[in-house]
Amino acid sequence: MSAPGVDVSILRVEGLAKSFDLTPSLLARLTGRGPLKVLKAVVDVGFSLVEGETLGLVGESGCGKSTVARMIVGLETPSAGRVLFRGHDLARAGERRRQWRQGGRIQMVFQDPFASLNPRWRVGRIVAEAFAATGQHLPTAEAEARVAALLEQVGMPADAIYRFPHEFSGGQRQRISIARALACEAKLLVCDEPTSALDVSVQAQILNLLKDLQTQHRLSYLLITHNLSVVRHMSRAIGVMYLGRLVELRDTRQLFENPQHPYTRLLMETVPRLHRRRRQAEVSPGELPDPIHPPPGCAFHPRCPLVNERCRQNLPESHAVPGGRVACHAVEEGRIP
Ligand SMILES: Nc1ncnc2c1ncn2[C@@H]1O[C@H](COP(=O)(O)OP(=O)(O)OP(=O)(O)O)[C@@H](O)[C@H]1O
Ligand code: SF4
Ligand SMILES: [Mg+2]
Repeated sequence: MSAPGVDVSILRVEGLAKSFDLTPSLLARLTGRGPLKVLKAVVDVGFSLVEGETLGLVGESGCGKSTVARMIVGLETPSAGRVLFRGHDLARAGERRRQWRQGGRIQMVFQDPFASLNPRWRVGRIVAEAFAATGQHLPTAEAEARVAALLEQVGMPADAIYRFPHEFSGGQRQRISIARALACEAKLLVCDEPTSALDVSVQAQILNLLKDLQTQHRLSYLLITHNLSVVRHMSRAIGVMYLGRLVELRDTRQLFENPQHPYTRLLMETVPRLHRRRRQAEVSPGELPDPIHPPPGCAFHPRCPLVNERCRQNLPESHAVPGGRVACHAVEEGRIP
């Protein structure tokens, strides 16, 4: 427990939102007249991540997970809300640069490491370049020694330094991108489906590597995946997103023992062994609605077995439940079976 008023979070996201203007006509877009097409990819998302811990983010394809990640690392500008890194608002001029200088760095680990590794550079250079990119100007011998140590730490063979990314498997390439993040002295890794492209056995190796590195370097992870077993294994807390919103945010154990939001329960059905109890056709799987025209009220209502008139009209506010919070009228009204 921390003292009252002391924020121990390394990352805090408040009211984060991102809309994409997809209006086909430039004139309509500029004047705001005519049929506008706006996709609200992320709406009012808030959470915090305690240093040294992992927060998982789950939800179906298109629910906004990567957009949240991209706003945190600065690849996308939020339409609203704040991203606070160690209490500093990263959107403020110079703040992101200052954080980099101080070594409080955020790095992203992507699903496809190949796309983010320069194919023409040898692995040694790829990792060493991270020193320069983050303002660490090391003498050559020291840089070489550190690159070798980092590659060893992530389980790469010693001769990897002299080889090219294409000479390695997907899992090894992911190890290289993790070594590069460590070379940046990253404190927070935003991992977007880091193992989804890998074979199951290799997935486990990479996840275990991430866990070991977390302990050794007190790293914090925001781990995005659609695989509930992976986040359960890795995370202290889990956020469940639906159509751009965070519908449930809970301590991992409590989420799995007693999921509250009907959508979370639907997701849990994909982990059959754990939730056989709930396998009666409680929730109709249904289709994800069109994000440009989301249903009114609770966006999950067309798929929800507990829907009532209030759900069709009013957006549920997030409220406290054991181990976190949830946004659902039925939970608030005690209608959850
Ligand atoms: N640059 C963009 N321009 C327009 N729409 C976008 C853009 N990026 C994302 N979107 C849309 O925003 C929504 C959220 O996308 P996002 O990639 O964040 O989802 P996701 O949860 O990461 O999905 P997945 O599991 O498939 O990776 C989707 O409807 C997507 O089509
Ligand atoms: S608010 Fe209503 S429709 Fe939405 S998840 Fe809860 S019960 Fe279902
Ligand atoms: Mg994504």
